[in-house]
This record gives sequence, structure tokens and C-alpha cells, in this order.
Amino acid sequence: MPLVSMRQLLDEAAKGGYGVGAFNVNNMEQIQAIMMAAKETKSPVIVQASRGARKFAEDLYLFKLIQAAAELNPEIPIAMHQDHGNSFETCESAIALGYTSVMMDGSLKADGKTPATFEENVAITKQVVDYAHERGVTVEGEIGVLGGVEDGHGAGGSGLDHITDPDQAVEFAERTGVDALAIAIGTSHGAYKFTSKPDGSVLKMDVLIKIHKYLPNTHLVMHGSSSVPKELQDIINQYGGKLNPTWGVPVEEIQLGIKNGVRKINVDTDNRLAITVFVETPEKFDPRDYMKPAREAMAKVVAQRMTQFGQASHAGDYKPVSIEEIAKGYKNGSLVTKPLVSK
Ligand code: G3H
Ligand code: 13P
Ligand code: ZN
Repeated sequence: MPLVSMRQLLDEAAKGGYGVGAFNVNNMEQIQAIMMAAKETKSPVIVQASRGARKFAEDLYLFKLIQAAAELNPEIPIAMHQDHGNSFETCESAIALGYTSVMMDGSLKADGKTPATFEENVAITKQVVDYAHERGVTVEGEIGVLGGVEDGHGAGGSGLDHITDPDQAVEFAERTGVDALAIAIGTSHGAYKFTSKPDGSVLKMDVLIKIHKYLPNTHLVMHGSSSVPKELQDIINQYGGKLNPTWGVPVEEIQLGIKNGVRKINVDTDNRLAITVFVETPEKFDPRDYMKPAREAMAKVVAQRMTQFGQASHAGDYKPVSIEEIAKGYKNGSLVTKPLVSK
């Protein structure tokens, strides 16, 4: 099956009332782990690459691996997504490669660190939406700023520093026409999100619920959604790792989000923890010996998330539409998101 439009994946998820995990990849084993899980649970899936991942793997290696995944798993709808695009050029180059979805993260300036103004964010995001939709490619924008820094990307600080203003979210969605909107409700990237288990008030679920009420047709995205399970922290530390105690986003809060318009859930850190390689048998030095259990450990985490987010068993629900057909839908207005219904 060719790669599928993320918009179609999310529209179907909205119809079915479930969420779809978007899992970050950097190499073949991570892609295989995701596909093992998708196959086992019969899930549609979003695979995403950050700028750092594209640089690390060299664009073409990574993209051809995704194409191989699609070819080997024709029964699984897969959307390939650029995570945290920092500029028009980053999104343009992903589209040129064949990515079916891009995130233009205009909440930060092109340096990927400094918060941008609202007007700057609207202008760059709208530019990407016009270009991408003409080519049938989905666009995710971001309003509000996530906390933390991953591989040099991010404003830093706590996830509570720049919570999304619901009125701004409405204006942003109306002026840009994004398909999906990442909102800041207190999460941050990386392993260190919270110093104790956060409840719904720490996570500002009320803000999320309000935004969904205002924007019922815009798919909401939760970034920084790793749960950072204690079991994975313990395994890392058992083998000589140095993780300080930390709390991620509880799965039940993500599930509450899914009941309130969250359709895409970004998970990277949990999979990084799971695929970390431990030396149990120092006499062995074959990558197959240590990558196989690491890949299986990641597949286990991904399969669990797919079940928890509700995407499991939905792979065969629909027939993917070609990207060309999707482009026609944007052109004739049938796919143009009508944001404001019930403010
Ligand atoms: O949003 C950040 C993702 O976790 C990807 O991180 O830029 O280190 O690949 P990265
Ligand atoms: P985590 O660091 O919580 O896995 O978040 C990943 C993410 O949001 C990627 O865009
Ligand atoms: Zn993110």
C-alpha cells in the first residue's frame, strides 16, 4: 500500500473515536518495531522523523526504509510525517521526498529555540499549508509552546510556561487552515516531565476540552506524551543507566484527551527507553544479538500504546485514498477544515 494521507488517518480516527500514536524513528530497527506492533494489533500508524533523525539517517535511507515498511505491510495504512519542521524549506524537502504529512512548528523561530510571535507563526504556517495542500499533504501546526529540549530543539523550561490560549487557537486554525493542531497543555519533550504523578489539573485538561469545544473539526495533537514507565526506568538503571526518578503523562490522561478531540499522540521517549541496548553477554559482539531483543522490547511498548490509544483493530476499516485525490479535496473545499462551530 502506498503511504497514506495523515488527514485521512485522523479523519477516520475521529469517526471511530480513537487516537493514533505517532512514533519517532531514526533507524531500521525502530521502523521494524513499529511495524511488528502495527501488524500484531492491526493498527493504522503514523511514523515520524524529526530534523535530527533525517540528518542522522540521511534522508534517503530513512525514506526508503519507510517505503519498504509500506510495501511489506500492505494491509497497514502508514502516514509518514515530518516532526517539528522549523522552516518552509524543511517541510518542502520532506514533501519532495514523499512524506504525506508535515508539521510546521511555527511556535518557535527557525532556530528551534526562541518562541515566535503569533503573527510569525500564522504567516509561516499558512505558507506551508498552501504549498502542502496543493500537493495533497497534511499539515500540523502548533500554538502555545511545549517545554523541554530534545536534540537541540525546544524552548526549554517547564511545559507549563506557555500554555495554549483557546481564543488564539481558534484564530490560528481559522487563519492557517491546518488539519491538525498541537497544543501546549503542560507536557514537555524528553524523560523529565514531572517530579510527581501529574493529575488532570497539572496537565490543563480543561484547556484541551475548551479548545476541542471551539474547534471540533480540527484534530488535536498531544506532544510530549511518553508515559516514562517506572519499569523501563528501573531496567535502564539496573544495567548501569543514570535516570533520576521522573513521571511522564499518565495513559488515562491521554485517554481523556482522546475522548476530547486528541487524534495524534506523539511518543518518542518511551521507545528510546525500550530500545536502549544492555550488555548482558559481553562475550557477544554481533549487532543481531543485541538489536533483536531491543527491537522486541520497543515493539512491546508500541503495541501496548496502540491498544491504549484505541487504534488497534482499525487498520482494515477503510480504503486509503490517493494523495492526488486528497489534493482535489483541498482544492474543491471538501477537505477544508471549518473551525468554529460552537464558541
Ligand atoms: O520532538 C522531539 C522528538 O522527541 C524527536 O527528538 O529531535 O532528538 O530526534 P529528536
Ligand atoms: P516524548 O519525549 O514525550 O516521547 O515526546 C515526543 C514528541 O512529542 C515528538 O514530537
Ligand atoms: Zn514534539
